[in-house]
Amino acid sequence: MSTRTLITGGLVITAADEIHADVLIEDGRIAALAAHGSSAARSWSAERTIDATDKYVIPGGVDAHTHMELPFGGTFASDTFETGTRAAAWGGTTTIVDFAVQSPGHALREGLDAWYAKADGKCAIDYAFHMILSDVNEHTLKEMDLLVEEGITSFKLFMAYPGVFYSDDGQILRAMQRSASNGGLIMMHAENGIAIDVLVEQALAAGRTDPRYHGEVRRALLEAEATHRAIQLARVAGAPLYVVHVSAEEAVAELATARDMGLPVFGETCPQYLFLSTDNLAEPDFEGAKYVCSTPLRPKEHQAALWRGLRTNDLQVVSTDHCPFCFVGQKELGRGDFSKIPNGLPGVENRMDLLHQAVLDGHLTRRRWIEIACAGPARMFGLYPKKGTIAPGADADVVIYDPHAEQTISAETHHMNVDYSAYEGRRITGRVETVLSRGELVLHERQFTGRAGHGVYTPRATSQYLGQ
Ligand code: URP
Ligand code: ZN
Ligand code: ZN
Ligand code: ZN
Repeated sequence: MSTRTLITGGLVITAADEIHADVLIEDGRIAALAAHGSSAARSWSAERTIDATDKYVIPGGVDAHTHMELPFGGTFASDTFETGTRAAAWGGTTTIVDFAVQSPGHALREGLDAWYAKADGKCAIDYAFHMILSDVNEHTLKEMDLLVEEGITSFKLFMAYPGVFYSDDGQILRAMQRSASNGGLIMMHAENGIAIDVLVEQALAAGRTDPRYHGEVRRALLEAEATHRAIQLARVAGAPLYVVHVSAEEAVAELATARDMGLPVFGETCPQYLFLSTDNLAEPDFEGAKYVCSTPLRPKEHQAALWRGLRTNDLQVVSTDHCPFCFVGQKELGRGDFSKIPNGLPGVENRMDLLHQAVLDGHLTRRRWIEIACAGPARMFGLYPKKGTIAPGADADVVIYDPHAEQTISAETHHMNVDYSAYEGRRITGRVETVLSRGELVLHERQFTGRAGHGVYTPRATSQYLGQ
């Protein structure tokens, strides 16, 4: 039996167009669009009609960087796949790409299977995986080929965190050479972790233990240096490169220079770098710990370069790097030693709203909002046009967004499993009203109607951004 849903009267916004159109959904996919009031649209009938008059009808968000249940610093990120994907849905995100982790000394296969098991039957929205490589060796390199065939088409490497996830330049070059031949995309955490560790040791020895020193030792120059080095290694390997969580103006400049040369180099930033700063890291009474993530928050002056990069397409994607740790019991592990504060911020629920506010504030156009939050990440990670757009044949992952509603972000009202909000008290104009995932209502007029297990694992093609 086919089930049809009709969304009428809204402004349909994709990365390419804005049109007043009715949207017909059939069997979980977009069946057709037609101008509102046209004879075609008026001829449609459906079991369910959603009135989107005065609202936006946008593709569900694609958050290409989350860490549900990530083991880090002796603890685990506090959102499970169940709580984290539910919160994502509340915030208008209908696909996440999370990071499966290889443990040093173990196979990629083991790490990946552990992540399949964690997510299986738990997710409210669709999900896919990248693979974190923490031990590049002959065996792992061979496994990369198999993973690409299986739909895990991107691999994160770390120039930071020596002794944990760190890869040296030789390992990085080998992984890049492999990706050049198998079509995978290397995602780089670009910070010079060896130099940072020296500065951490010196800061602690001098009694500088507060959270704000996390930002001071992780110098912008060390992000820029690593970004530059990663780009040169990728050139040598003949491989494309995607730099994750870019925060420093100097790192954006490295990406821009490479792109001006025509190199296939891409960049992502995150809401925390666009909206928060070292002022937050300096909050008294250890409150700054709430804002400890890597790359770190930067002085406010860096934000203009990030917004500019998003407008000029030197940065293509905004994802959250959602990696929540509660203040009580988790962030507190680093009282008296900032280096023991688990790294990461919550945000999977806030991204679409914060970026809508950025539209109202004049940083982005509406279509660029959809590009960097939906279509761009879907293309970058081989999910387009199944995800990231509203077009015939695409999955019916659709958000009805009220651009006039007022809200205040708060831990009191959010749905992430974490005891604080990094954006506490921030006023936002705009709010997610209704969310469909493959045609099923997950959120209906601000009531959660989804369920754990609706979301399915979604294998990915190789990046569709390459060659553009
Ligand atoms: O601080 C962060 N970003 N934590 C998550 C791990 C990572 O490096 O992305
Ligand atoms: Zn093992
Ligand atoms: Zn990282
Ligand atoms: Zn991350």
